[in-house]
Formats: sequence, structure tokens, C-alpha cells
Amino acid sequence: MTNPAGYSRVQIALHWIVVLLIVQQYLLKDGIADAWEASRAGLEVPFDPLVAVHVAGGALIMAFALWRLVLRARRGAPAAVGSAKLQMLARLTHAGLYVLMILMPVTGAMAWFGGVEAAAQGHNLLKIVLLVLVALHVVGALYHHFVLKDAMLDRMRRAQP
Ligand code: HEM
Ligand code: HEM
Repeated sequence: MTNPAGYSRVQIALHWIVVLLIVQQYLLKDGIADAWEASRAGLEVPFDPLVAVHVAGGALIMAFALWRLVLRARRGAPAAVGSAKLQMLARLTHAGLYVLMILMPVTGAMAWFGGVEAAAQGHNLLKIVLLVLVALHVVGALYHHFVLKDAMLDRMRRAQP
């Protein structure tokens, strides 16, 4: 993988669009959680736009994550900065975030379209892992910004060739 000076406009746009989509998945989750409970109880599940928003939002997150991985493989990402340990932690966190942006929609779809109970349990467990990784990622970004003062945050704000 090559190391361009920074992320491209498309890479930055996809990062922030996906952040908003993930926030929305957590804030508007009640529709699908209630519908899932009702369907498990054998009740009729009426159409709820919030369910459609959750399914479409999750599908978009996965599509954008795959697109980002293609961009990363083709164009690359800026070289990691900080101590070797910090770089390793950042690499593992980013890899975990990509894996979860794919596993969350996959387990959700297996539950919703396939009725697989175990997938719903996995989805519920992974939602916590995703939150923990996002928290670690945000703490890392703020640590770079306020403690190391290395302008890392700017990498996700200003595009570079
Ligand atoms: C990155 C994408 C996704 C995220 C972050 C996400 C997040 C969540 C969250 C926070 C809940 C609420 C769980 C609870 O506390 O009750 C939930 C429930 C659920 N989601 Fe997703 N979701 C994603 C994608 C999807 C997709 C694409 C589908 C279906 C095609 C889906 C199907 C479901 C189902 C069926 C439930 C109810 C499961 C239950 O309550 O046990 N999710 N999701
Ligand atoms: C749902 C929340 C988030 C997810 C899933 C997420 C995911 C990611 C991923 C996967 C990367 C690696 C990009 C790559 O090199 O391919 C990344 C980079 C980055 N993210 Fe986030 N992010 C989230 C929220 C945030 C927030 C809230 C901030 C700011 C406080 C932030 C700041 C950054 C920065 C500065 C980078 C560049 C790191 C570097 O150049 O090594 N992210 N993010």
C-alpha cells in the first residue's frame, strides 16, 4: 500500500457520512428492536419506516466500508504517526472498525431476513464492541490533537493529494 500525503476528498466524505449513519443506527434503533421482538412473539409486524431506515442505513454503512477498503487498497492512506505502540493500536482499532462495519449489517440481515436468533444475539453483542472501539478511536484522535498536538485530526478534515 502506498502512503499519499493525506486522505482524498472521497475518503474524508465517506468517513464522516458513515459516522452520521452509525450514530443514526443507535439513536433510531427502537423501531427495529420492537419489530424484532414482535416477530419473535409471533405477532403481526406492521410497516414501520424506522425499520426501513435501520436496514437501509446498515446496508449503506457496509457498502461505504467496502468502497473505503477499495480506495485504501488502490490509493492508500497517509503514513501512521506516533510511537510504534500507538501506531499498532491505531492499526488494530481501524481494522476492528472495518470488520464491524461489515459484521453488523451481516448479522443484522441474517436475523431480519433469515430469522436467525443467534445472529440477533451476535448483533446485540457486536453493537457493544463497536461502541467500545469507536470510544477508543475518538479518545485516540483527541489524544493526538490535545496531547501530542500533531495535527492528526486535520487528516480527516482537509484533503491532500
Ligand atoms: C453498522 C450497521 C448497524 C448497526 C450499527 C446496528 C445497530 C443496532 C442497534 C444499536 C440495535 C438495537 C439493539 C437493542 O438494544 O435492542 C439493533 C437492532 C437490530 N438490528 Fe441493527 N444495526 C446495523 C445494521 C443492521 C442491518 C443491515 C439489519 C438488517 C438488515 C439490522 C437488523 C437489526 C435487527 C433485526 C435488530 C433487532 C435485534 C434485537 O433487538 O435483538 N441491523 N441494531
Ligand atoms: C462511528 C464512528 C467512527 C468510525 C466507525 C470511524 C472509523 C475510522 C476508520 C476505519 C479510520 C481509518 C481510515 C483508513 O485509514 O482507512 C478512521 C480514521 C480517522 N478517524 Fe474515524 N471513525 C469514527 C469517528 C471518528 C471521530 C468522531 C473522529 C474525531 C474525533 C474521528 C477521527 C478520525 C481521524 C483523525 C482519522 C485519521 C487517522 C489516521 O490518519 O491514521 N473518527 N476512522
